[in-house]
Amino acid sequence: MQSEYDSAATIYDTILFPFLQPIRKAVARELLTFKGKKLLDLCCGTGNQLKYLASQGYTDLHGLDLSKPMLEIGQKSHTPIHWYEENAAQTSFENATFDVITSTLALHEKDRVVQEAILAETYRILKDNGTLLLVDFILDNKSSWLAHKAIPIVERMAGLEHFTNFKSFRTARGLVGLIDPEQFQERESNRMLFRGIVLIRYQKM
Ligand SMILES: C[S@@+](CC[C@H](N)C(=O)[O-])C[C@H]1O[C@@H](n2cnc3c(N)ncnc32)[C@H](O)[C@@H]1O
Repeated sequence: MQSEYDSAATIYDTILFPFLQPIRKAVARELLTFKGKKLLDLCCGTGNQLKYLASQGYTDLHGLDLSKPMLEIGQKSHTPIHWYEENAAQTSFENATFDVITSTLALHEKDRVVQEAILAETYRILKDNGTLLLVDFILDNKSSWLAHKAIPIVERMAGLEHFTNFKSFRTARGLVGLIDPEQFQERESNRMLFRGIVLIRYQKM
């Protein structure tokens, strides 16, 4: 399947390493009690987060992305991860397959219809009481001046459609405005990177 990320696959990890590495560590810390559980990273890109989790002793790891070139970068590492070239809005998994689902910096760049379809699919394939960990941008009065300036510039550089979706996501209060508390109840929330990134851990209701 084709993704706008296909052409960026070979440089993605290198360029974004300083920004993404603190996120990889924070996700691993947040999921410490889930080592050995069946974990899916939706829109996993090159699988960089999964490789980091593997290096920290996580074992039952699965990564799904639309972009074959992004997945191929992950596969080259020969880390024991199961890879799926699929659409996160319509996967091949049975109901209630995973104990934990994560997704990092993926929802903000999609339009509302796609965001809602991905969350509906997440709800379907996550086990009852399962854990959802989302990481995404947040720009509000708690975010630093630097985050307010830098994040929109980075998003604009990613393309006009991407930027339009980011602006709508921001106006709709990001993850807070998107997640239905009747489906996913918030358990913990942490900010990082000049308080412009939020990690929210939810439990499936
Ligand atoms: C900003 S990148 C984030 C990648 C990864 N989560 C990370 O933290 O490095 C967004 C990823 O979402 C993927 N993607 C976009 N739409 C998708 C969809 N409908 N289903 C699965 N993956 C998708 C892209 O191919 C890309 O790899």
